[in-house]
Amino acid sequence: MAQLLKVQNFTVSADGYGAGEGQGLERPFGHAHPRDLMRWAMATASFPGPRSGEGTCGLDDHLVRGYAHGIGAEIMGRKQVRAAARTVDRPRVAGWWGDEPPFRTPVFVLTHHPRPSFTLGETTFHFVGGSPAEVAEQARAAAGGLDVRLGGGAHSIRAFLDAGLVDELHVAVAPLELGAGSRLWTAPEELDDRYHREVVPSPSGVVHHLLWRR
Ligand SMILES: NC(=O)c1ccc[n+]([C@@H]2O[C@H](COP(=O)([O-])OP(=O)(O)OC[C@H]3O[C@@H](n4cnc5c(N)ncnc54)[C@H](OP(=O)(O)O)[C@@H]3O)[C@@H](O)[C@H]2O)c1
Repeated sequence: MAQLLKVQNFTVSADGYGAGEGQGLERPFGHAHPRDLMRWAMATASFPGPRSGEGTCGLDDHLVRGYAHGIGAEIMGRKQVRAAARTVDRPRVAGWWGDEPPFRTPVFVLTHHPRPSFTLGETTFHFVGGSPAEVAEQARAAAGGLDVRLGGGAHSIRAFLDAGLVDELHVAVAPLELGAGSRLWTAPEELDDRYHREVVPSPSGVVHHLLWRR
């Protein structure tokens, strides 16, 4: 089976934003609250984190449960690791993921300002410059034959889409509008010339879009 570069469980608003405006350490998703945007995932039995009650099973949980399966390396944009970096520079400052990020693979962080790597728990973050194609090559080489996940944010996913590097995408569209922020698309149809797309509404109100290369 060919090694895939894929986007998994990436959530956007109905108007295509993966995060709101004014992102910062205290407000990682800007004016959007992750609890609203990612409600579908956070409500599932498999979501790694605090949750009230049992947690949903079914379609959403099935997609969340498969998150780590077959992934050997991760690529993400620098704005997603803002918090983790501070933890290393300033001990005792808790990052979003705390001391045990959920990736447990090499993580290649796209940036124009490369800096020393650091490790938190079983996850090592490598800050890398270079083109999306060069970073994809580094991640594939580090993934030990397994797939590579492109974890976001929207800015980085767009760069890899524009470079023709993404094999598959699962994008969940949440039933809320953000109006501004970091945008993945204006509408999913934008990708129909390059990707097949199946649309699967979930009882939770989110609509899953599964895309794979034509
Ligand atoms: N909705 C979801 O499912 C989801 C999932 C993950 C994350 N998020 C959220 O998304 C937000 C971040 O998304 P974002 O779109 O604003 O930013 P992002 O894609 O995470 O990061 C953008 C940064 O990545 C670097 N970068 C991107 N493309 C590059 C390229 N071609 N070459 C070199 N460096 C490149 C640059 O870093 P430098 O400025 O250092 O050069 C750029 O400023 C965070 O708030 C995060 O919480 C949402």
